[in-house]
Amino acid sequence: LTFIIYHFSEESLVYDDEQEGLNKQIVIYFSHVVAENTPKGLAAQKFAELVEKKTNGRVKVEVFPNGSLYSDDEEIDALLRGDVQMIAPSFSKVTELIPEWQVLDLPFIFKDYHDVEKAFTGDVGKQLLAMLESKGIKGLALWSNGFKQMMSNRRLLIEPRDFYELRFRIMPSDIIKKQFQLLGSEPIAVPFDNVYSSLENHELDGQENTISNIYSKGFYRFQPYLTISNHGYLGYAVMVNKQFWDHLPKEIQKKITEAMKETTIWNLQQSKRQNEQQLAQLRKNHRIHIYELTNTDRKKWKSQFAPLYQEFEKEFGNHLLRQIQKEEG
Ligand code: LMR
Repeated sequence: LTFIIYHFSEESLVYDDEQEGLNKQIVIYFSHVVAENTPKGLAAQKFAELVEKKTNGRVKVEVFPNGSLYSDDEEIDALLRGDVQMIAPSFSKVTELIPEWQVLDLPFIFKDYHDVEKAFTGDVGKQLLAMLESKGIKGLALWSNGFKQMMSNRRLLIEPRDFYELRFRIMPSDIIKKQFQLLGSEPIAVPFDNVYSSLENHELDGQENTISNIYSKGFYRFQPYLTISNHGYLGYAVMVNKQFWDHLPKEIQKKITEAMKETTIWNLQQSKRQNEQQLAQLRKNHRIHIYELTNTDRKKWKSQFAPLYQEFEKEFGNHLLRQIQKEEG
C-alpha cells in the first residue's frame, strides 16, 4: 500500500477512484487539543477505528491529541490550509469564523442533556453545520463534552457578586467575554494548552470548563473551589477540509459518514457518563470544595445574564434562538 497525504496547494489532488487510486491508502490527520481520556479524545479514537474497519483499512485516521500538532488557536487555519484534514474545535472557537455560532455559548441555553441531544442531532445542528460550507469546511457532526462548571482559587462562587474583580480564563467568544463582564470580572482569552501554566503561575483567579477537562488536565490542583453550575455547554464542531472531502470517492464519503453517525450517538452517552464518573472522583478529593447551585441561585445568575440574550437577538435575530427554545418545548 502506498500512503498519500493530501496537500491542497498541489495540483496532484485530482483523484480517480478507478485505477491506481483503488489500492492507495487515504490518510486523515485528525488534530485536537484535549487529553485522550476525554469525550472528544475517545470519540476521535472510536471514529478512527470504525473508519478503518468499514473501509477495510483503505482510510487511516491518525489522531493527534493534546495539541501535539496544533494548538486551538492554530487548528482552524491548519485545516483551511489543508495541513490537517480533520479537527473538532469547541463551538466558541468556531464563533471567530461564524459569529452566529455564539448562540451555543449563551448561558443556560440548554437545561439538560435531552435539550443538547435534540439541538445537536436535529435541524439546529444541520443549519449550524451548513454555515461552515461557505468557509471551505465540511461539517460532519456536533460532538458533546458536557456542561461547564465554574472554578476559582479565591472563594466559592455562589452569587453573581462573588465573581467581582476576578480574572477568568475564557475561550475566544464574545458572548463568553460579555458573560464575565456582566459579573464584574476580567475575562482573559487563553488557548487551552496554556491554561494549566497560567493557573499555576497565578495569572488567573478562575475558569469555566467541563468536569472532564478539569479532571484530565489537572486544573483542580490550583482551583480548590468548584461550583456545579451547568451554566454553559461545551460541544464540538467536527469538521473536514471541504476540498479534501469533495475529492474523496463517494463510497468512502459514505463509509466515513456512517462511522461519524455511530460515533456521534456513542459520544452523546459516553460524554455524560464520563463527566459523572470524573465528578465522583473529584468529590473524593478533600481539598476541593464543591457547591451545587440551588434553583434560587440559578435564578439570580439567569437574571444577571438576561442582557446577553437581548444583545444576541439584536445582532443576529431570533431565528436560531427561537428554534432551540421551541425544540426544548
Ligand atoms: C477549552 O478551550 O477549554 C476547550 O475548548 C478545550 C476542548 O477542546 O475541550
